Amino acid sequence: MSELIAYIAPQNVLPALSDCLLILNSSNSHLNVVQSDENEVVQRHYALQMPVQRLVFPPAHCHWLIASLSHEAQPAVRTLHPHLVVVADGLCSNHADLARSVDIGIASSLSELIEAMLLAHLNRGASLLEAINLCNEQLTGDVSYICHQQEQAQYMFAVCLGRPLFVGLESGLRQICCSSLRLIRQRANQVYAMNSGDVVRFGLGAPARILSNGTEQILPMPAVNKSQSIPHYMLEEIEAQPETLAILVQKYAAGFSLPLALRGKLAGIRAVTLLACGSSYHAALVASYWFETLAGLPVQVGLSSEYTDRDCQPDAYDLVIAISQSGETADTIAALQHSQIKGAPRTVALTNSPGSTLTTLVDHILLTHSGAEQSVSATKSLTAQLLMLYVLAFSLGEARGKLTKEQVVAAQQEMLALPTAVAETLQLNKDIRRWAGLLHRKKNLFVIGRNTHYPVAMEGAFKLREVAYLHAVAFPSGELKHGPITLVNEELPVIVCLPWNLQAQKMLDDLKAVRANRGEIFILSNGNIASVEGTSVVRMPSGLTHLSPIIYTVALQMLAYYCAVLSGNDIDAPRNLAKTKTAALA
Ligand code: BG6
Repeated sequence: MSELIAYIAPQNVLPALSDCLLILNSSNSHLNVVQSDENEVVQRHYALQMPVQRLVFPPAHCHWLIASLSHEAQPAVRTLHPHLVVVADGLCSNHADLARSVDIGIASSLSELIEAMLLAHLNRGASLLEAINLCNEQLTGDVSYICHQQEQAQYMFAVCLGRPLFVGLESGLRQICCSSLRLIRQRANQVYAMNSGDVVRFGLGAPARILSNGTEQILPMPAVNKSQSIPHYMLEEIEAQPETLAILVQKYAAGFSLPLALRGKLAGIRAVTLLACGSSYHAALVASYWFETLAGLPVQVGLSSEYTDRDCQPDAYDLVIAISQSGETADTIAALQHSQIKGAPRTVALTNSPGSTLTTLVDHILLTHSGAEQSVSATKSLTAQLLMLYVLAFSLGEARGKLTKEQVVAAQQEMLALPTAVAETLQLNKDIRRWAGLLHRKKNLFVIGRNTHYPVAMEGAFKLREVAYLHAVAFPSGELKHGPITLVNEELPVIVCLPWNLQAQKMLDDLKAVRANRGEIFILSNGNIASVEGTSVVRMPSGLTHLSPIIYTVALQMLAYYCAVLSGNDIDAPRNLAKTKTAALA
């Protein structure tokens, strides 16, 4: 995936671009810039050194530019249309059909495709805004683009169709639009996070959202709190979750926009198999409860690295879903292929990486639309996986007649409440930092939960191991009495995910044994539980039922993060781990 950065200002914006590259310090090593150069539009390519050095650009009066930063060199400099420049990122699922419709090769880049589509509409007499709206109606997938037309030199248009984009005001009348929350927070004084479907005009004057009927709305642009600079990608990605989830909620809460071909198959599905590893495996485990409860389907969850040695027998009505943030994890690719060899009839890739290997092997692709995830730890991509699996589960429930209309509406309503609940959970960071102060030096930790919150506990323990290097183990709380309780004493704290639901009383009973053995208890709960000696409670937001695992996951991400910070660990690149590289898009 690429990072997009666009600048427009009365003064030369190249030095600002150079500053951006230092802030991003991204491992993407190819920078393509389309820029104004005196009265010309030129395109330049730079191969970046690692670690990123300050780039010295040729002297120019460049008052607008659109740059993309990616892992792979873009195809040789394309012929630029002198009046219209488009730089795009994402995956367009009907790319080939659209390319044929505008008579360009199907191997054309997404930027070239959108440019050709806009030009086709412009040539038929449409204004740029009309062309953008028409083009947006045709594009399906997960796309964002920024465009500039010479006739309106003082403006640019940013379009968000799934892939996150932010618009910001900098000092000196500079306006920036980019895909990185870290960058915008550091560079801009005021920021607007674009919603999916937004068309925003920025440049001279106040940035405005342009509605499809041409009406302009000046953007609400809250000031950035500069004292809250983001020291690590992991924190940035944890904090981005209200926005990344809001993008998905918008896409799916009103009228399901699951790919049509997949929607057509849902009614005939009789079983679900989920394949994944690491954090994606925990998402699969949480979702297995949803597929049972909301869709009434039997579910198997396979750990990718184990699955290839199993003699699985998918039947003709099975839906196999391979889940992988990167779409490149070798174990998950092998597990999917194993299921296909064994006859899996319908396969889905759920990934954050359009164009990844996994997406080339399946019948259907579901994207998590979370933007590039730089930290090795999966955070925003994981909660997006959870949300997409929830959408799939209740869509299956609806298609199979398991859910009533009212239940489907309630499921959608719950989605609408999610981004706010996640934002409220992030507000608990002070309490969680206090816990981290008490926990980060412990030798061993238990994390427990029941039902959907048992895999959440697994994910929490996994994160505590992965970034905080703590020996944390997860158990279903009902299992404590069947062995693990022998290890509990004043040296072994127990972290508890305790949503106030049907399992809450059982969990409180399970905890009596922990206190009886002098184990210290740290409870995350929306219930009215008091902190007393030996029991510390952090009050979680209320109002979610099925989606509650997502906010508990976020709370545990923060706990692992702050424990890692206090231990002085390398947060974004934990020892012995590397993030699977995502194949860059054409
Ligand atoms: C591991 C990472 O190597 O891969 C985990 O340490 C990650 O954080 C796991 O969850 C699976 O990755 P993916 O890309 O297949 O979801």
